[in-house]
Amino acid sequence: MTDDLDQLRAETERTLAAAADLRAWDAVRVGVLGRNGTLTALLKQLGAVPAGQRRERGAALNRLKDTLAALIEARRAELEDAAFAARLAAERIDPTLPPRPLPAGLIHPVSRTMEEMAAIFGAMGFAVAEGPDVESDWHNFGALNIPAHHPARADHDTFYLPPAAADAPPPVLRTHTSPVQVRTMLHQPPPIRVVVMGRTYRADHDATHSPMFHQLEGLAIDRDLTLGHLKGCLIDFLRSFFGIANLPVRFRSSYFPFTEPSMEVDIGWNRRTGELGGGGDWLEILGSGMVHAKVLANCGIDPAVWQGFAFGMGVERVTMLKHGIPDLRPFYDSDIRWLHHYGTSPLLPALLHEGV
Ligand code: PHE
Repeated sequence: MTDDLDQLRAETERTLAAAADLRAWDAVRVGVLGRNGTLTALLKQLGAVPAGQRRERGAALNRLKDTLAALIEARRAELEDAAFAARLAAERIDPTLPPRPLPAGLIHPVSRTMEEMAAIFGAMGFAVAEGPDVESDWHNFGALNIPAHHPARADHDTFYLPPAAADAPPPVLRTHTSPVQVRTMLHQPPPIRVVVMGRTYRADHDATHSPMFHQLEGLAIDRDLTLGHLKGCLIDFLRSFFGIANLPVRFRSSYFPFTEPSMEVDIGWNRRTGELGGGGDWLEILGSGMVHAKVLANCGIDPAVWQGFAFGMGVERVTMLKHGIPDLRPFYDSDIRWLHHYGTSPLLPALLHEGV
């Protein structure tokens, strides 16, 4: 009488054991306990059992139902545990492995020099100003006392851009950072102390000239600034920037249309070894002077009340001198080996060449 029940139990145990995953397991469960399952069918047939045996048969079916439900549930737990273990094994990580080294970026020597310049002049009370690379003829030349047929224009190998109108002067790629002097004076009342660092352009290309290079410009305007302030400011800057406390600095009379008087500035070096400091030779490093009265007036500043000084120098040039970089061209080659050699780590200097 209960043979068929024992058989169902044995059959269920066998198919459960054979179910390798939760999908197969669910098929077994539905096949036994589902609406059309084998056990459900037996329960449905209970009404057809002779009355004398029905109670016993019913009790046996219910026990079997509990037993099968427990077996099915147990198998599910087993399969879930196995699936979880498999997933853990597949996603296994070793937290004791050292991390892969990250490729660290390096700061280009030009950027580093400009940061150092901003820091040194910042400590002297200069703010940083900026201007556009594309300038009007007036900002780049006219306002700086270089009118249309002035011979100084010939020195500037200028890149001209298409003019807005046939009779308008063509805009230019700025040939120096001095137009930012003009913009600053037009936009802020004196006293003024600003430095400008940025790209400049001249149609010139060889080992020491690039059509694009960077300049540092300085401008200080106040009621009673003198040549003495100019000299003190530049001597302090040069000694601080090159890290040589007694660096010889020489001021030599020169000419710029936008300064009067004008001076070129030389530093002491050894021409033979390239070493800065002593050595008895002089190396020209920057241009400077007292801002020309006409330039002040062009920018709406009364030269009877205000005066000041300005200076300009090549960022690449002082960078090459400071770090002993022999050639200008690789500055713009984006050669990662060059950058690894001359670049600076933004992070810990100790990490510099590790794993990059
Ligand atoms: N603008 C000049 C140049 O490019 C440098 C300079 C700036 C000279 C300011 C004097 C004053 O050569």
